[in-house]
This record gives sequence, structure tokens and C-alpha cells, in this order.
Amino acid sequence: MLKTIKIRKPDDWHLHLRDGEILKPVLAETIKDFRRAIIMPNLSPPIVNTRDVLSYRTRILDALPQGVTFEPLMTIYLTDNSDHKDIIKGYRSGLISAVKLYPAGATTNSEAGVTDIEKIFPLLEKISNAGVPICIHGETSKDSIDIFDREAFFIEKTLDPLRNKIPGIKIILEHVTTKIGVDYVKAENENLAATITTHHLIINRNHIFAGGIRPHFYCLPIAKRESDRLALREAATSGNEKFFLGTDSAPHIDPLKENQCGCAGIFSATNTMSYLAHVFEEEDALKNLEKFTSINGAIFYNMPINKEFCVLNKHEHPIKFPDKIRVGKEFVTLFNPGFLSNWCTEGTI
Ligand code: DOR
Ligand code: ZN
Repeated sequence: MLKTIKIRKPDDWHLHLRDGEILKPVLAETIKDFRRAIIMPNLSPPIVNTRDVLSYRTRILDALPQGVTFEPLMTIYLTDNSDHKDIIKGYRSGLISAVKLYPAGATTNSEAGVTDIEKIFPLLEKISNAGVPICIHGETSKDSIDIFDREAFFIEKTLDPLRNKIPGIKIILEHVTTKIGVDYVKAENENLAATITTHHLIINRNHIFAGGIRPHFYCLPIAKRESDRLALREAATSGNEKFFLGTDSAPHIDPLKENQCGCAGIFSATNTMSYLAHVFEEEDALKNLEKFTSINGAIFYNMPINKEFCVLNKHEHPIKFPDKIRVGKEFVTLFNPGFLSNWCTEGTI
């Protein structure tokens, strides 16, 4: 063994588990390394109220192997017609941990999302007063805005006005991808934080087109410039408590990715911790890995830090992950950055 580190068991503050046949095999990958995860509600149809949450949560718990301690932290998908009383009831009872705001049309299964955020300001104000955190897919869905500018546009035209209108609002700018986004989060008050994915720390927009079009590097928000990736790396590895891991691990079966019109989403649950350790070591910041994966998110969400620990070993040889996982008759391709990491998690203590 070249090196060993022991950290609090990580949490994933942004995860897609899906439903039906794919749920069990996908969940099996996350529970190896994660103790809790914020579960995205963009199913088809979406999870829009506490009744939907109750039954989806039950399906997740039923898909867990016996004896595994994993806590799905549930969210409600906001629509133009969301019911603030239902949301507040769900939050107060502990059934939900946050709500999810998708601008309608911004990404996968977001058609039922919010068409005009200003129209739901009154609802956001009420749920914010009750302390409910708002997870936001921070991209405009306007086709007229260049896809690489949609995050910056959203921050300027929607997020900033929203935060000025409702000063106490607690927001997670999810999967931040730009230097503009990182700088904005850093400069603002403690009610604003951001999640960062593993893949955005590793790929930039050139990787999507390296030698041909690479559907398994396509996700939303799309990877940006190298200067953006470097800003994300600095934010994630700095220990700054406003930034924490949300993998946005988003499985789609291969025929839906390798397609005339391939879906957005990168599946990274299996090897995220290995690649994060590699990235943090490259940045000479292994001491801050625990903050990013296991501390900062819990503090922002006012949740206890996990009692369990996880050990990561750096081996002399690179770790070979499978190319794909099987889901029924289909396969889901794993995030493969094109290099190997020597780091491996060795289970929970
Ligand atoms: O790449 C993405 N995939 N981004 C999202 O916002 C949604 C996700 C999915 O559900 O596949
Ligand atoms: Zn997502």
C-alpha cells in the first residue's frame, strides 16, 4: 500500500437513483461508498408531492440489501402548481430534506418544471420561511442562449434577483460548472452553497469531442472551458464549506446514450470516490477530501456528520473498474475519464 486515509463516510448531495428495474443495481453502487444521498425527483412522472415521496422512498428502501444503513434524503419536484402546505408538512415531518427547482425544459424530465420562476416567488418565500432548502438546476432553458452560457445567464437573470427578493432563502446551486458560478457562490452569504460533480472536476468541453463525439461525457450542465474546470478544482479542494460533493450520477441505459439524440447524464456512483481521491492528491489537498465528501454538505443541511468512517487505500497498481454495470437485459456505462486511479475504498468501519 502506498498510502491510506480514513475519512468520515461520504454523502452524495445530488443523486439520480431512477425507478423500476434499474433502481436496485444503481442503488447497489451508491451504498458501497455513501451513507446518505439527496435523491433527485425527476422521474417520469416526477415526484411532486409528499404522497409520491412516500411511495418512492418505500421503493428505494425495499431495494436495499438487508442490514445496509443508507438514508435516502428525499426531495419534491417543484411545478407551477406546487402546494406549499404539503411541502412544509413534508419538511417538518422529516420526510423530505429539500425541494428541487428545474426551470422547465432545462434538462432530462424537466418538462413539468417551473415555467416562470417569478410566478412561484410567493411559494418560495413561504417554504423558505419554514427553512426548506431549495436545490436549483442553475441553467436557463432559453434555446436562444448559448448552451455554454446558460449557467452564467441564469445566475445573473434569475438566481441573483431571486436571492435579493427573498434574502433568507437557502439555496444549493447544483452541479456548478463555471468560474462565474464558483465566484458568485464564494462572494455571497452563508445561505448559498453549491454542489460539484466528480466529472466536472475531470473533464472540460474538449473531452466531449476528443477524436469523435463521446456520448458518455454528455451531461447537463455541459462541461465548460478548462479555466472553469480549474476554478471548480480550486473550490472543491480548498475545503471551503460552501462547496460539497453532489455526484449527479445519472444512469441511462446505453441505447439511450448512444443514440441519434443521446440523453444527458454521466454515471459515476461506482468510481467517484476513487477518482476524487486521485484529484485531491493531484491538487495536494487530500486533507480536504473529507470536508468535500463528508462534512460540508451535512453542515449546510443541518444534519449530523456520519459516525461511520471509510478507508481509502492507494495501491501500487491502478484500480480497474468495470466498463459497465448490468441492469436487467441492458447495460449502463460507467464514467471513464480515460486514465486510471490507484485509489480504492475499502468499505465502512
Ligand atoms: O446530465 C444530467 N442528467 N443532468 C441533469 O440535470 C439530469 C440528469 C438526468 O436525470 O439524467
Ligand atoms: Zn442531476
